[in-house]
Amino acid sequence: MQFFIDTADVSAIKQANEMGLVDGVTTNPSLIKKAGQDHEETIREIASFIDGPISVETLSEDAEGMLKEADEYINWGKNIVIKVVMTPEGMKVVKELSSRGIQTNVTVTFSAAQALIAAKAGATYVSPFVGRLDDIGHYGMELIEQMRAIFDNYGFSTKILVASVRNPIHLLDSALIGADVATVPPATLMQLFNHPLTDKGIAAFLNDAKQWKKGAKVG
Ligand code: G3P
Repeated sequence: MQFFIDTADVSAIKQANEMGLVDGVTTNPSLIKKAGQDHEETIREIASFIDGPISVETLSEDAEGMLKEADEYINWGKNIVIKVVMTPEGMKVVKELSSRGIQTNVTVTFSAAQALIAAKAGATYVSPFVGRLDDIGHYGMELIEQMRAIFDNYGFSTKILVASVRNPIHLLDSALIGADVATVPPATLMQLFNHPLTDKGIAAFLNDAKQWKKGAKVG
């Protein structure tokens, strides 16, 4: 499973990339706002050091406007994916961009029926928001199971990009179900490292090494 990082925070992307944990980047208007920098400058900077796909979200509500934005965005880097919302206008855009060989990511998706629509329109990625489903008392990961079954039943090449990932269990379940990608906020990515036995084991090794270096008897 690929790991994308779900942020527009350039230094967080650099940090995760140094650890080999960034296969791609996803952004959205809220993440751009949170990063507090100009949209185009931020994406260009990310594209200067990330080779994998970078999702950039369109803001127009009509297909014509979204296509204009897509034409602009694809010049911001070498591997730009056009992020489009799950609407009838959005699916027109996906169909058109897919025919031009431009990658797309269908976002704010909450049902298997919506995912099927996105796949039929020719989306490269579809992004189900599992955390937001959990927030309203649904099992977000059930949607991933349904999508995996449907895409496999019909051999769709559209990739399942699990989004709104809030904790390590979302990531683990995504991998067990066979999602293609999970996009993870930087803080959640760092949580994946955590295990009390790892901390305890490292502390014990360091402590033994200190005694050993002092010339104490090694057991
Ligand atoms: O990629 C979409 C994701 O950023 C949404 O996450 O936590 O705002 O539901 P969240």
